[in-house]
Amino acid sequence: MRPSIIVHGGAWDIPTEVHEAHKHGCRTAAETGYAILASGGSSLDAVEAAVRSMEEDATFDAGKGSHLNREGEVELDAIIMEGAELRFGAVAAVQHVLHPVTLARLVMERTEHCMLVGEGALRFARSVGMESVPVHDLLTEWERERWEQIRGRKRFEQRDVFAGSAAPPQCNGTVGAVAIDGNGTVSAATSTGGTPNKMVGRVGDSPLVGCGAYADNSSAGVSATGLGESLMKVVMARHVCDLVEKGAGAQRAADESVSYLEQKVRGLGGVIVMDRGGESAFSHNTPHMAVASVDGKGKMRVRI
Ligand code: GLY
Repeated sequence: MRPSIIVHGGAWDIPTEVHEAHKHGCRTAAETGYAILASGGSSLDAVEAAVRSMEEDATFDAGKGSHLNREGEVELDAIIMEGAELRFGAVAAVQHVLHPVTLARLVMERTEHCMLVGEGALRFARSVGMESVPVHDLLTEWERERWEQIRGRKRFEQRDVFAGSAAPPQCNGTVGAVAIDGNGTVSAATSTGGTPNKMVGRVGDSPLVGCGAYADNSSAGVSATGLGESLMKVVMARHVCDLVEKGAGAQRAADESVSYLEQKVRGLGGVIVMDRGGESAFSHNTPHMAVASVDGKGKMRVRI
């Protein structure tokens, strides 16, 4: 199997002035992940490294640059999964970590559990020596301004910002990566700061297995992005894998799943897919989706 990778930096109404930043961040993430694959590394290492690169990039709604919750805090969600044995780790509503995707991997590899949340996830992070990051290190001026603007409104409705309505989403992007390695193992990872001004403790689709990501060597790896309250209702990532398992190609499975999301719950978002044959695809029903991929021949493509 020739290794390849596809990454995304969110699906929403990305303003023209930040297109280059999104393309640059996705390209860097895809390059980082592909370098690991090209030197014989695993797809799990590749997706973790790709997502870490976007968590460090304040352009995206993951790690540094995440949206603030109602208390002005940053609470992060992430998942990582490998498709050989269906092992996964996830964290939700965790504070003070820059790389929740790595914490999710540590949950998978060093605990007997699959998911840790909130204070328990933070305690585990400390117990494995992860650096504790003060909230101001995760904050950007742009996100603080957005938060103050929202807080200034009389009554904030989640749908004002990112909705299962006709309005295009006006917020930052969840990030994700899917890769296949030389052994034919597919892995997927997703990381997010969630939605702007979310309730404290709100968890979206991203860390939920089968919703924000899924990986199964007998079908595909998938990472989803969009409003979690819609995506989790249709178990988005597993829906894509089911279609591939039934014989759909990566592109058809991605397109049909996004149509299903729209028809069933009026959801807005997108997915990236890597099928078991190394064919990648993406689909979205938002004005933009930031995507970069490196195919089996080493060819890079960046789109928005
Ligand atoms: N899809 C990211 C979230 O809704 O939290």
